[in-house]
Amino acid sequence: MPFLEIKQNLSKQLTDYLNQSLETPQVSALDLESDFSTPPKMELGHLALPCFRFAKILKKAAGEIAKDIATNCPLKGATATAAGPYVNLHLDMSQLCAETLTASLKEKEAYGSDQSGKDKRIVLEYCSPNIAKKLAFQHIRSTLIGNTLGNIYEFLGYKTERINFVGDWGTQFARLLAAVDIWGNKDELSVNQLAQSMNQLFELYVRFHKEVDQDDSYLEKASKCLQALENQDKNATELWERIKSISIASMDETLKRMNVKFHHIEGESTYIPAMAKTLEEVKKEAGAVESQGAWIVEVEGFKTPALIQKRDGTTLYLTRDIAAAIDRYQRFKADAMLYVVSEQQKLHFDLLFGVLKKMGFEWADTCEHVSFGTVLFGSEKMSTREGRVFFLDDILNEATALALKECTEKNPDLANKELVAEQVGIGAIIFGELSNHRYRDINFDWKHILAFDGETGPYVQYAYV
Ligand code: ARG
Repeated sequence: MPFLEIKQNLSKQLTDYLNQSLETPQVSALDLESDFSTPPKMELGHLALPCFRFAKILKKAAGEIAKDIATNCPLKGATATAAGPYVNLHLDMSQLCAETLTASLKEKEAYGSDQSGKDKRIVLEYCSPNIAKKLAFQHIRSTLIGNTLGNIYEFLGYKTERINFVGDWGTQFARLLAAVDIWGNKDELSVNQLAQSMNQLFELYVRFHKEVDQDDSYLEKASKCLQALENQDKNATELWERIKSISIASMDETLKRMNVKFHHIEGESTYIPAMAKTLEEVKKEAGAVESQGAWIVEVEGFKTPALIQKRDGTTLYLTRDIAAAIDRYQRFKADAMLYVVSEQQKLHFDLLFGVLKKMGFEWADTCEHVSFGTVLFGSEKMSTREGRVFFLDDILNEATALALKECTEKNPDLANKELVAEQVGIGAIIFGELSNHRYRDINFDWKHILAFDGETGPYVQYAYV
């Protein structure tokens, strides 16, 4: 790419200049290239070279060196000015633009890829909601960060294995089964009536948590449902399968609208049959110890141990993740495995990777938790249990409606208005989401996201068109 080539070229010229006064060359072009930083303001230049490191080598103050370069070094492709101990470089923009445009027109979609991932494989897990509920707005972060990382890796030549690891087991699911059993209308739960079925499930879920507050015998009913599932009871399993396929179909519809793709949709429940073997292995290889009837693994650097088996013999989210990680590595032999999951689960992943490492898996070092902050709607905190939740689909609909209004005002005769509005509206949400630093908590702000100028999706699409 022209920018990188120009950068390399400048490093070479600067290195030669700095070495010329030395008997033996001591500055390397590669090191110098990695010294480059970006000046705080574009007006100051496109690249900055700090000279502190050369002071020792040249036995001269950094400021002197910067001044010397700015006045005496004959540079091709940039002009240099000294700013204290820094040299600021202004690139020759006409050269850079001409070369960039020529290269991008020639290489088309391949422009910018160095194919550094050729013959490498990466496992990426993202989205991963607990199902039986519609995707909530906060699922957007993992979904988009993960999907975009996948696109970037593929662009660089990697083979990706994109996994959506859905929560389809455990207490929450059992509660829903109980609610369907008590108050539900099973005949109206069907993939052919998606919207209606999902609404029913949501109402039942909220109702369960309301009623439990008055009468905790419902909890017993839920734990019976969990047992029935674990014992592979025919009716419970049939209902569970049906709820699963309804929620996965509903999730797929939403993901399709955002152009998000997966190679594998896998349920946590897939690993239930592997639990006994996994526990045995962890106990043997990772030095698990019994503590008050439960089993734990101490992980260096963490006060909280990893709990792998509860006192009542049941396994946990963490145990299923251990089994899943081992299985993923065996299936894909990936060069890295990434988990795009919220910051709130940091300890969970630290412990997971720690246990895998203790089990002797070298590849545990290639696992990474790609975490991110929370999306807030004003000061409201979302809670599915209390029925206070913004569904992702509704937000996409709202964005589309707002974009349609804007299109109609700005360009009443536009053909395909609905299609354009969907593209602009959803594009705005995607861009708004990805333009934030992933660690930051972000406040969702309609006005900013849909603005037609500034750093926004609509503006970028407009510029592209
Ligand atoms: N389903 C989980 C949740 O909603 C997130 C799963 C994250 N991935 C994992 N491998 N643990 O909290």
